[in-house]
Amino acid sequence: MGSGQWAVIAVRLPTAHCPLTTPLPVAYRIMNIAIIPAAGSGSRFGGQIPKQFVEIAGAPIIVHTLGKFDECNEIGAIIVALRSEEIERFEQTLKAHRIRKPVRLVQGGAERSDSILNALEAAKELQPEIVVVHDAVRPFVSTEQISAVIGRAREIGAAILALPATDTIKEVENGLIRRTIDRRRIWRAQTPQAFRYDLLLRANEEARADNLPSALMTDDASLVERLGEKVAVVEGLASNIKITTPEDLALAEKFL
Ligand code: C5P
Repeated sequence: MGSGQWAVIAVRLPTAHCPLTTPLPVAYRIMNIAIIPAAGSGSRFGGQIPKQFVEIAGAPIIVHTLGKFDECNEIGAIIVALRSEEIERFEQTLKAHRIRKPVRLVQGGAERSDSILNALEAAKELQPEIVVVHDAVRPFVSTEQISAVIGRAREIGAAILALPATDTIKEVENGLIRRTIDRRRIWRAQTPQAFRYDLLLRANEEARADNLPSALMTDDASLVERLGEKVAVVEGLASNIKITTPEDLALAEKFL
C-alpha cells in the first residue's frame, strides 16, 4: 500500500478540540492534509455496518481509500473523523493494514459538517497549507487526481473534482417539470475537494455563525462559494464512484 518513510502514528484524540498528544517533527509542520469524514452511521446497504467499514478485497472500503492518500506524495498526514465508539476498533484496523503516513483519529459530530470542523480544529497545530476533503466511500480516486486538485487549490485557493453532466437535467416540482437546465453548464461534484486551510476553516465557521441548515452543508466547496471566493473545477473520472447502494458495492468488488 505505497512506499515511503512515514511511520504509522494513530493518535487518539478524546475530544476534537484537545491538542495533539504527540509533538510533531518539524518536517511535518508544513504539509497538506487529507480529511476523511467517516462518522456517518447510515448503511444504505441495509446491514448494521456503516458502508465505509464494509470489506472489499480483504480490507474495509475506507482502508482502500486511505491507501490512495498514503501513496500520494503531496499528502503529509491524514485525519479521519469517526464515531467515538468506532475509534478504538479503527486503531486496530489501521495496525492490521500498512498505512505509512501519520493518521489521526478524531471524533465526528452529529452532521458531516460537524465532523469536518472537528477535523479542521485537530489540523490547526499542523499548520497545513492545503486540506483535501475526501469521502471515505470513494476508494477509486487516483493519486494523480488528488495531486491535480491540490495543484489547482494552490493556484486559486479552492478546487474540486467534478464531471460534466451527460444526462439532461430537469428541475421538477410536485412531479412536474418546471424547466430544463442547460447541461453545458452543469457539473457533478465529486471529492477530493482541496482548499487553503484558512479558507475552509473560515467557510465552515461562517456557515455555522449564519445557522446554515445542515442539508445545505453536504458539500464543502459550497461553503467557500457562499463567501464569494473562487472554486476551480478539475475534470474527474467516472470511475471515482461514491459507493452508496448495493449495486455500487457489487461494482466496486469487480474493480478491487
Ligand atoms: O451520508 P453521506 O454519504 O452524505 O456521508 C458522506 C460522508 O460523511 C461519509 O463518509 C460519512 O461517514 C461522513 N459523515 C461524517 N459525520 C456525520 C455524517 C456523515 O463524517 N455526522
